[in-house]
Amino acid sequence: MSFEDIFGRAPTVVASAPGRVNLLGEHTDYNDGFVLPAAIPQKTTVALRPNQGGEFVVHAADLASESRFGRDTLPGDHFAAYVYGCIRCVMAMGVEVPHLDVHVRSDVPMGVGLSSSAALEVATLRALRELLSLDIDDVRIAQMAQRAEIDFAHVNCGIMDQMASSLADESHMLFLDTRTLERRLVPMPPGAELLVVDSGLSRSLAASAYNTRRAECEAAARALGVPALRDVEDPQRVEALDEPHRRRARHVVSENRRVLTALQGVDAETFGQLMNDSHASLRDDYEVSVPELDRLVALLQSHPSVHGARLTGAGFGGACVALCRAGEARRAGADVVRQYGERGRVLVPVAGGQA
Ligand code: GLA
Repeated sequence: MSFEDIFGRAPTVVASAPGRVNLLGEHTDYNDGFVLPAAIPQKTTVALRPNQGGEFVVHAADLASESRFGRDTLPGDHFAAYVYGCIRCVMAMGVEVPHLDVHVRSDVPMGVGLSSSAALEVATLRALRELLSLDIDDVRIAQMAQRAEIDFAHVNCGIMDQMASSLADESHMLFLDTRTLERRLVPMPPGAELLVVDSGLSRSLAASAYNTRRAECEAAARALGVPALRDVEDPQRVEALDEPHRRRARHVVSENRRVLTALQGVDAETFGQLMNDSHASLRDDYEVSVPELDRLVALLQSHPSVHGARLTGAGFGGACVALCRAGEARRAGADVVRQYGERGRVLVPVAGGQA
């Protein structure tokens, strides 16, 4: 159902933002490191209009859910909490936000590591920026979206997802230094295209493990006497750490190096090898993979059209990304899903649609 169907009149503003897939640089952003995500074709669209009803009404078309809340009440509905968080971040700027009718529609797959929540936050903030003529740029939008996620959805995330949703596009990779926010769009490896396959495994362990990994990295940085693991200059130093800090730090240090190597404009085969190495490091040193994901990644890696593959996002389930020969991703995806089993599905190129 459309905004008009639900609220009986047209919205004042409509804005959208994409999900993202991360090609290299996993679990590096909260270590002040480097990341290399791209936008995916799927996006979230937020339509809104001020109302006179004395409350916010958020309708999520794809979930067929409706949530009503005031300015001082965090909605119990997880989905509406993201919208509420964005409204509160705008209020924190000293701006008065009128009560709103809000309609959300999205084709970003949820809970698979493609940042459906960042897409919702960025789309909501873009809509609020337009409605209220806010003087905020796309970086500020990403920072506010991250704040909304940390303070109101209670996920202690880095800034990669929100920066990617706000600043990346589908035909480039966004190189981002998460400490300085220095960034640039860089071309995809020549003659290659992306494939994203969902493992069908829910990421139930991801939230608690995420916070544990983050704490382990901070402890490792403290033991090494550096502000963050990004500052480790000699990789040999991490070998002296106790476990599990040694392996956690080794992943972060090696992953940052892989991003910087990829930035030098390597060919698709070399880029694919960096992705394979990244998966091995996430599996063995960072321990955020699970056997089903490893199996899916191995099937992707052994397909003749695939240069390299890895899990993408926080891990423990969700999606894998592969770099394929141009024009061959769709067929490779169908082959691999057939071998993997019915839980798998191709997400990019969009199954059955135009990628
Ligand atoms: C989640 C977080 C990001 C990042 C990734 C792992 O997507 O939101 O900030 O840490 O996990 O790379």
